[in-house]
Amino acid sequence: MNAHLPLEHRLALITGATGAIGAATAALLAERGARIVAVDRPGTDFAALEAALGAALVAVEADVTDERSVQAYVAAALAVTGRIDVFFNNAGIGGPVARIADYPIAEFRKVMAVNVEGVFLGLKHVLPVMQAQESGSIVNAASASGVTGSPGMWGYNASKHAVVGLTRVAATEAAPHGVRVNCIAPGPIRSPMMGRLDDAIGSEEAKRARGIPARRYGLASEVAGVVAFLASDDSTYVNGAVHAIDGGLTAI
Ligand SMILES: NC(=O)c1ccc[n+]([C@@H]2O[C@H](COP(=O)([O-])OP(=O)(O)OC[C@H]3O[C@@H](n4cnc5c(N)ncnc54)[C@H](O)[C@@H]3O)[C@@H](O)[C@H]2O)c1
Repeated sequence: MNAHLPLEHRLALITGATGAIGAATAALLAERGARIVAVDRPGTDFAALEAALGAALVAVEADVTDERSVQAYVAAALAVTGRIDVFFNNAGIGGPVARIADYPIAEFRKVMAVNVEGVFLGLKHVLPVMQAQESGSIVNAASASGVTGSPGMWGYNASKHAVVGLTRVAATEAAPHGVRVNCIAPGPIRSPMMGRLDDAIGSEEAKRARGIPARRYGLASEVAGVVAFLASDDSTYVNGAVHAIDGGLTAI
């Protein structure tokens, strides 16, 4: 007899799904029984994810900053089982690292568009679906940069603080309807995004300067594990919270 899978019969919608954290989370949620609707930018190559997930995957190209595209990815998710049980609102970009005098407003706006407007639009179109179902779990991707100051990351830091705010507002609106909205706050995770940041700061110095008590970067699989917990019925009274996944970074 098959062991019970905690996310069996659940539909999980993931934005930024081909990125380091999105792909690791898609794989783990699928392993635990979920069908996955994977959203990423137009022109994205989903081949690796398709090879890993097979029939469990539906791939959707959409720009999370465009409301019509968001409506389209929500419709594509609903077309699979008529429900959205889990929403990992994860797409994000890092933006430049620079002193404020050198930080272009156009780059600031670009980061806010993806990281804040993209998350807002995802909430705007997924929350009503979950509220009508009277169930569902949303996990927004914030960051340790959403609870502390990261030098030079003006847009990113502001955007991730905003994600914490959006999470808290959404949780208060959603909770009476049996829907949960949490966010995760990963510290530096081994990923292309972190690689680009390290290049901007200077890799070895960056690692030393970050002073992570665990003395290493996190793994995308370690983020996926927390998202899977928040997606599951093991966390039914966990709502509106910011979950650090940072090797102790924000404990100091
Ligand atoms: N990597 C880290 O160290 C780290 C730490 C804390 C938080 N985070 C957050 O976790 C999330 C995932 O990060 P990651 O490390 O997997 O990054 P990544 O760059 O590997 O993945 C991000 C994904 O988002 C997609 N994306 C970007 N803009 C988009 C848009 N407009 N529409 C649709 N998709 C878009 C990209 O194509 C990419 O696949 C981000 O929100 C990031 O800010 C990452």
